[in-house]
Amino acid sequence: MKGLVLSGGQGTRLRPITATCAKQLVPIANKPILFYGLEALVKAGIRDLGIIVGETRKEIMAAVGDGSKWGARATYLEQEKPLGLAHAVLVGEEYLGDEPFVMYLGDNLLTGGITEFVDEFQKYQPNCQILLAEVSHPEQFGVAELSGGRVVKLEEKPKNPKSNLALVGVCMFDKHIFQAARALKPSWRNELEIVDAIQYLIDNGYNVRSHIISGWWKDTGRLEDMLEANRVVLDTITGNIEGFVDSSSRIEGRVVIQAGAEIINSVVRGPAIIGEKSRIINSFIGPFTSVHHQALIQGSELEHSIILGNSSIIDIGGKIVDSLVGKNVELNRSNLRPKAYRFMVGDNSRVGIL
Ligand code: TTP
Repeated sequence: MKGLVLSGGQGTRLRPITATCAKQLVPIANKPILFYGLEALVKAGIRDLGIIVGETRKEIMAAVGDGSKWGARATYLEQEKPLGLAHAVLVGEEYLGDEPFVMYLGDNLLTGGITEFVDEFQKYQPNCQILLAEVSHPEQFGVAELSGGRVVKLEEKPKNPKSNLALVGVCMFDKHIFQAARALKPSWRNELEIVDAIQYLIDNGYNVRSHIISGWWKDTGRLEDMLEANRVVLDTITGNIEGFVDSSSRIEGRVVIQAGAEIINSVVRGPAIIGEKSRIINSFIGPFTSVHHQALIQGSELEHSIILGNSSIIDIGGKIVDSLVGKNVELNRSNLRPKAYRFMVGDNSRVGIL
């Protein structure tokens, strides 16, 4: 089997972070989301990985390289425009050939991996196998209607969902999906929808299996999802201190301090991770926080947040919580007159002031 990893798209819901960073490369517990998917595919025995790339191709290619880091072979497939998941499948047609494949959305995270589902697909050899997860807001997802255990209908973001079963961003297909995708017309949002392609398979008598997963799954399109994913992954880490912690600092619970990081006169309460060469000075880093590489946190308190690389947070009075701070950001206290807030904030940013 081959893998088709979708790493194109626009990431509009995560702007302005995605203005300069591919959504799939936002780190969760200091590792790009995409890498969790690649690891899951390789663990399931899939080593030929077709990676769909769009506008952010350069960054994705720089991060993934030739795939050898995972013992895999990465082949990049250019999607000119993000015209939908089924369109991305068609972009992959030549690469995939007649081989069955796993389509994996590069911004999805399944903590239990996918090995069990790939094994099941190989055992029963249906034309398509979808994974479903129970969710509390099905209207935000592709939703499946089952009858006697069989999928009868799939709808993308329905106003009145027929069930609470959302389509997880990992599906398995054989070559018939190409015929299905080619038969589609663009939807109201001008995309070739994968739910419509699967519906075509159902309507034309192909064997579409479904599996309701019990493990944790997240489609990390929004800030809240990123923070939740970070929380869930940090909850599984084992403490490991490779950096320097001075004698006036305290490390509580499961904390990873990566190589070259320095903790000076501070408290880090896990689960938390501090990235390579980052400095934490006179600060408190609370649970569920990931500080990426080469950041500086000084005289500040952080909790339940993700701070990306090369950013500095200095002498902020209140505690920073539930936040995603991008790369090269400076947040500091200003002594300039007039005494005032001074911002240079990108489009679509969200700032909460006390
Ligand atoms: P989505 O989250 O559906 O779309 P998006 O990335 O454009 O984000 P937003 O809705 O916030 O604008 O995409 C799911 C995954 O599939 C994601 O990793 C991007 C990828 N993708 C493609 O590679 N090609 C496409 O045509 C689309 C629509 C998505």
